[in-house]
Amino acid sequence: MNSVELFQSYFKKLPSDSASAHGRINLIGEHTDYNDGFVLPSPISQTIEVSIGTRDDTEIVGISSEFGELTSKTSSANDGTWFDFVRGAIYFIQKLSPSLKGIDIAVSSSIPSGSGLSSSAALGIALLRVLTKIQNLPLSSQELAIMGQQIEHQFVGTQCGVMDQMSAATARIGEAIFLDCENLQIKSIPIFSSHSFITIHSGSNRKLSEGKYNERKNESLIASNILKIPSLRYASIDQLNKIQNPIIQKRAKHIISENDRVIKAATYLEKNDAKNFGELMFLSHQSMKDDYEISSDELNQVVESAKKNGALGARLTGAGFGGCVVILSHNDEIDSMKKSILSECPQAYWVTTISRELNS
Ligand code: GLA
Repeated sequence: MNSVELFQSYFKKLPSDSASAHGRINLIGEHTDYNDGFVLPSPISQTIEVSIGTRDDTEIVGISSEFGELTSKTSSANDGTWFDFVRGAIYFIQKLSPSLKGIDIAVSSSIPSGSGLSSSAALGIALLRVLTKIQNLPLSSQELAIMGQQIEHQFVGTQCGVMDQMSAATARIGEAIFLDCENLQIKSIPIFSSHSFITIHSGSNRKLSEGKYNERKNESLIASNILKIPSLRYASIDQLNKIQNPIIQKRAKHIISENDRVIKAATYLEKNDAKNFGELMFLSHQSMKDDYEISSDELNQVVESAKKNGALGARLTGAGFGGCVVILSHNDEIDSMKKSILSECPQAYWVTTISRELNS
């Protein structure tokens, strides 16, 4: 059921307006966004859709296809439910447009949550889109993305970077964005014509707000403080010997080497060079496994299986600690690759494949 149908069946009236936003996979560039670095995400066809009706009081009444019914006030405290996103979005839009009061809202989603495919950023951006529509506020993609990130920081409790929100706010299917997270400049690059990115869930879920993510962010900050630079974007590999603590040194090594890989990967994507792009994906995974330590046995197993079955590249995508692996495969081999990996990794399951022509 889409969000309009859900709204109608629950509220027995038509919504005032609707909006949606796509989930994403990240092709390369993990944990670099909050270090002012570079990332290369690409949207998946799955979306979150939001339909709303305005109210004259300050109530929020909501129904979600995934998480059920809720009621609260716009001013209620954060409670760890999907309403934290709704209250956050209303808060930021009200600051620009105080006439906004409560809302009736229906949410439907085809993005599996907890998979590292950015369902929460898509929810934030879809909410901001529909609220800016009804309040007639012309906000740019960058403004929407920063607001979406602030919802996560101030209302949800995740200290995320800006990659997922920028991807959701600018998404064009069949393209990746080479994003400079320091100044939010983007360059859109079409994905390979002859190769696709198969996304396979490792079978173990992750929860972003559960501490490890913020721990990595803090370790990156410690490294940049030691090096006396504003962020690890400005560090180079030959500075690593100035960091004595072996853990902090490894974390910095991942960020520095990953930024370098993203810049090279974007060039390979532009040149349609899938072979060299894929090699960087394998190197990126190795770095996340050994240096940033955000992989898991299940994720490593899928990457190994992809390599064994002839994939050009494979790496975990998203925050890590579970979730999905993205695999670069020739278009002619998508089905056989999927089949072999899924038979070798019994916990794993296919989620989506993104191609230039066809997204499924
Ligand atoms: C999550 C965060 C992003 C980014 C990735 C890791 O998806 O929301 O900001 O840090 O993890 O690359």
